[in-house]
Amino acid sequence: MTQNNTLKVLVTGAVGQVGSELTMELRRRYGDDNVIAAGHRTNPDDVLRTSGPFEIIDVTIRDEIERVIKRHKINTIYHLAAILSVVGEEKPQLAWNVNINGLHNILETARQHDVKRVFVPSSIAVFGPETPRNNAPQETTLRPTTIYGVTKVAGELLGNYYCKRFGLDVRGLRYPGIISSETLPGGGTTDYAVHIFYSAIKDRRYTCFVREDTVLPMIYMPDCIKASIRLMEADLSSLKHHCDYNLAGMSFSAKQLASEIKKWIPDFACNYEPDFRQAIADSWPKRIDDSAARKEWGWPPTFDLPSMTIDMLKRLRSPN
Ligand code: SER
Repeated sequence: MTQNNTLKVLVTGAVGQVGSELTMELRRRYGDDNVIAAGHRTNPDDVLRTSGPFEIIDVTIRDEIERVIKRHKINTIYHLAAILSVVGEEKPQLAWNVNINGLHNILETARQHDVKRVFVPSSIAVFGPETPRNNAPQETTLRPTTIYGVTKVAGELLGNYYCKRFGLDVRGLRYPGIISSETLPGGGTTDYAVHIFYSAIKDRRYTCFVREDTVLPMIYMPDCIKASIRLMEADLSSLKHHCDYNLAGMSFSAKQLASEIKKWIPDFACNYEPDFRQAIADSWPKRIDDSAARKEWGWPPTFDLPSMTIDMLKRLRSPN
């Protein structure tokens, strides 16, 4: 597919943590009017609504997707609407409906209306207790113990099926926990790594819901956006995988993150009160091997723990 000026992009979940920042970057790259933001809420951020087209879509209703794809002649979709791990455990039926039926609606509508390329994030939640925890390989056992993980494994398989069976170019990354300063994450296990920054600045203290020695793979938002767009712009012939690329940014324990913040806020105090979310974190790997992404479409992250921490504190202290 030719890129740039011919792209008509739909972003579902555009009001969410990733969608809100990805939409703005896509608008910078491809033109404001060529990127249609869609959310199921009626109160999008002002910038999202005024900088380009905004549509309300409930992805569980196929007609709503079809209406927008036809109206804007969409040829590329970033499908970010999803229920994350914690809300998924509270509402498993909702997680299935949004993550599976919603995805199926997107893929089916894309196929019927000649959409060329679809991005669907997967997650480190596809892994489970039987996956090697220290450098989870690209090809490994996928037996997740959360409904979120179950839907993400099924989503990878469904995307791969649409590639092979219908020739729809579906691509996806296994996102680690995402740290960002613009929009709060909604209902994930890795959310502590964002909340800790807000609390450190506001209250100088934070009560963390996972143990201090909990290590998880994480990524900083600028790297997450860079990876998502780079994968979508990669030449199809260079890709051996489609919907399941391991993606790594950094890995750290909750205590290492708190210590890094303390370097810049010396009176910051963090205590640890693990709750049910600990079991979810313990079912995921500490580190993942992203050599396939590096080899096939040239992935390198920019941010590590120290540089991410400095940038987060700077942005949260002086939002523009
Ligand atoms: N951030 C997600 C979660 O915690 C993992 O992909 O649910």
